[in-house]
Amino acid sequence: KKVLLTGIKPTGIPHLGNYFGAIKPALTMVSDDSYDARLFIADYHSINTIRDPKILKQYVYEVAATWLSCGLDPEKVLLYRQSSVPETLELNTILNAFTAKGLMNRAHAYKAAVDKNREKDKPEDHGINMGLYTYPILMAADILLFDANVVPVGKDQVQHVEMACDIAQAINHNYKSELLTIPSYVIDENTKTIVGMDGRKMSKSYGNAIELFLPEKKLKKTINKIVTNSQEIEEVKDPETCNVFALYKLFATKEQQDKLAKTYRAGGMGWGHAKGELFEVVNAELKPIRDKYYDLMDNKDYIDEVLKKGEAKAREIAAQKILKLRKAIGID
Ligand code: TYM
Repeated sequence: KKVLLTGIKPTGIPHLGNYFGAIKPALTMVSDDSYDARLFIADYHSINTIRDPKILKQYVYEVAATWLSCGLDPEKVLLYRQSSVPETLELNTILNAFTAKGLMNRAHAYKAAVDKNREKDKPEDHGINMGLYTYPILMAADILLFDANVVPVGKDQVQHVEMACDIAQAINHNYKSELLTIPSYVIDENTKTIVGMDGRKMSKSYGNAIELFLPEKKLKKTINKIVTNSQEIEEVKDPETCNVFALYKLFATKEQQDKLAKTYRAGGMGWGHAKGELFEVVNAELKPIRDKYYDLMDNKDYIDEVLKKGEAKAREIAAQKILKLRKAIGID
């Protein structure tokens, strides 16, 4: 069986971008048991920004409960915390030695942070920690440790998976053996970049995210705040350039989409109507998983149990891999 692996960084309750970009595609791919699936919570990646231990713990539970409420079956799928597999850090050290500094200079997230500093006339490395700079190496360790073949992600993570390939190839080349499995990313054209409330990529750091598990009233309020243009009710509207419709498409059936598109084009439809329709389809899909989510968050002992089992199994796999690597490198 091929290995499927993907992770989520616990930096807050996951949002619709995480759901459509990674969670749903990953769970759909593993639902017919055709992959050995490893899904995890990337908590070491979080400490680049989350510095309060209580908050971090809460976020870890939130991501675990998200995976479980969205349908991850822990009897079939390995669910674990990155930090409970210290072998990741051993591999990270090995990968460091084979990663060109220039490769990290080209990483989008690092470059964006540098650009932001330049814009504000600050020194270019202002506020940038080594965790951010070497982020792609730790992510490569996550992927390569488990011999992942496929990594379902949103578009913003594609470069990181490509970097994992580059680093793995450098190692395989040096030791003249297929020590590390070269992974491929999987992205879905329709969901690779989910737009947020303001039409930019949905992201926690842009403050434009719609959280997955907002209580019903808050969800409605949030949807009502989605930015639209200032067209009057009677004007004809274009569904193809509208944030509300972009989100609607993710949840609605083809018939529902055609019907709402017609209403847009007929004129006489206010934004309040479109947002009301959006709320209905979002709520219909999210209500059952939201209920499960809150039940799980009330049952942290169960989550602990699942993660503990995951840890044991993940470490077993990881330990074998590290042993093999140590031998190949000459440090066994
Ligand atoms: P994170 O936690 O930022 O996001 C989790 C997943 O959600 C996807 N995503 C989106 N997809 C479409 N549209 C959006 N607006 C959107 N926003 C987020 C992300 O692409 C991602 O797939 N570095 C990773 C976590 C990680 C990881 C890994 C992933 C650590 N190690 C190894 C895969 C393999 C991250 O920060 O994702």
